Amino acid sequence: MKISIFGTGYVGLVTGACLADVGHDVICVDINQAKIDGLKQGIIPIYEPGLESVVKSNVAQGNLRFTTSAAEAVQHGEVIFIAVGTPPDEDGSADLQYVMAVGKTIGELMQSYKVVVNKSTVPVGTADKVTAVISQALQQRGFNAEFDVVSNPEFLKEGAAVADFMRPDRIVIGTSSAFAEGVMREVYAPFNRNHEKIIVMDVRSSELTKYAANCMLATKISFMNEMANIAERVGADIENVRKGIGSDPRIGYHFIYAGCGYGGSCFPKDVQALARTAGQYGYESKILNAVEAVNDKQKTKLFELICKHYGASETDTSALKGKTFALWGLAFKPNTDDMREAPSRVLMEALWAAGATVKAYDPEAMDETQRIYGNRADLVLCGTKEAALNGANALIICTEWKNFKAADFSLIKECVADDVLFDGRNLFDPALVSRNGLIYFAIGRADSIK
Ligand SMILES: NC(=O)c1ccc[n+]([C@@H]2O[C@H](COP(=O)([O-])OP(=O)(O)OC[C@H]3O[C@@H](n4cnc5c(N)ncnc54)[C@H](O)[C@@H]3O)[C@@H](O)[C@H]2O)c1
Repeated sequence: MKISIFGTGYVGLVTGACLADVGHDVICVDINQAKIDGLKQGIIPIYEPGLESVVKSNVAQGNLRFTTSAAEAVQHGEVIFIAVGTPPDEDGSADLQYVMAVGKTIGELMQSYKVVVNKSTVPVGTADKVTAVISQALQQRGFNAEFDVVSNPEFLKEGAAVADFMRPDRIVIGTSSAFAEGVMREVYAPFNRNHEKIIVMDVRSSELTKYAANCMLATKISFMNEMANIAERVGADIENVRKGIGSDPRIGYHFIYAGCGYGGSCFPKDVQALARTAGQYGYESKILNAVEAVNDKQKTKLFELICKHYGASETDTSALKGKTFALWGLAFKPNTDDMREAPSRVLMEALWAAGATVKAYDPEAMDETQRIYGNRADLVLCGTKEAALNGANALIICTEWKNFKAADFSLIKECVADDVLFDGRNLFDPALVSRNGLIYFAIGRADSIK
C-alpha cells in the first residue's frame, strides 16, 4: 500500500521504517529540513535499537523515502499517518497545533479519497477536530473529496520501539467507517498473522485507550514510589515488598519498581493532559493529580538523600558547594537517548544550583545532554563510566542501563572520595554494597535512611 507519515520523530520514523519493512511503499515527511537531509544520507536522528538497519535496508530497496514536501506526501499516500508531537500546553493540556496544521495541509492538497490516521497521542475529540479542519480546507478550495479520520494510537516503548512495532500486543483502531476499517486491516495484516491483535472500537474510546494505558503505567510507578516512601519510614525494604506483591497474578511483576521518578516524552504529559481533559468535562481526577504530584516530588528524592548525607538542607545547600558528583545515567530510561523530563535533569540542575559539579556518563545520551546544556564548567561529560568516577566525592545512578548493573565496587571505593553511592534505581543488594565499604542510599530501603 502507498503510505505517508507526517512527523519523523520516535513514532513516525519507527512506524515508517517498520511499515516499509513489511513491503508497504512509504514516504516520511517532516518540516525539519536538517533531519530529512540527514536521513537521506543515512543519519538516524535518534538512538533506537535496530532502527538504523531497518531504515537503511528499506531505503536501499526503495520502499522508504524521506521528503520535506507535504504535496509529495499527500499525493503519495492512500493512508496518511499523523505522527507529529503533541507537547503540553501552558496549562498541561495537549497542544494540538502541529496535528491541526497537518490536517489543514492534507485538506489543502488532497486530490482523492484518503484515510487520515491520528497516531499521535491526542485528547478525546481530536479526530472530530481534524475532520473539521480538513473539511474546511476542502471547502475553501471548492474541492470535493471523501476522507475518513481514524484513531490508531501507538503503544511502542522507546528503547524497544522497533521490536514493539513489529510484534505489537494490540493494534487499536478507532473508526465507525467499515471502509476505513478494511483499509487499516490491510495496513496491519502483516503484523496480525500470528493471532488476532486488532481491536476495533469507536473513535473516542480509541483516543481514551492510549491515555488510559499510559496513565495506568504512570500510576503503578507513583504507587510504588509512595510505598517506597512509606517503606523507608517504617523500616521495610521496598524490594522485598515488590517481590511479595508481584507474585500475586492480579498485580504481576511488571512495572512495579520504585525509583527516582518517571520521565520521558509520554507519561508526564499524558497524565497532565488527561487530568486537564477530565477538568474540561467538569471532573476532577484526584488519582491523576496525585500521580503527577508524587512523581514531581520523587524526582527530588536523590537530591534530598544527598543533602541529608552531607548536612545540607532545602534552605542551605552550602555543604554541597565545591563537591563533585559522578552521575551514571542521563536518559530517562535505558536504551534511549531521550532526555525529555528525565529525572537526571532535575538532579543535575539542583546540584548546579548548590554549587556542585557533575561528571556524567550515559551510553547514548551524551550528545543530547550537550545539546541541552551546552558547555558549562560544572558539567563534565565523560567517555566512560569509570572516567566519571575520577575525582568525584560520590556516585549517583539515575538510569538502570544494563552495564551499570554489575558494578566494580572496589573501583568505585577507590575513586570516590566519600565512599558513598546514591542509587536511584535500586540496582544493588545493600548488604553487598556495604560489605564493599561503601555507604549506600537507595529508594525505599530501610538501610538507606539510617
Ligand atoms: N515517543 C514515544 O515513545 C511515543 C510513544 C507513543 C506515542 N507517542 C506520541 O506520538 C507523537 C509523536 O511523538 P514523538 O516522540 O515521535 O515526537 P517527536 O517530537 O520525536 O517527533 C515529532 C516530529 O514531527 C515533526 N513535525 C512537526 N510538525 C510537522 C508537520 N507539520 N509536518 C511534518 N512533520 C512535522 C517534527 O519536526 C518532529 O520531527 C506524540 O503525540 C506522542 O505523544 C510517542
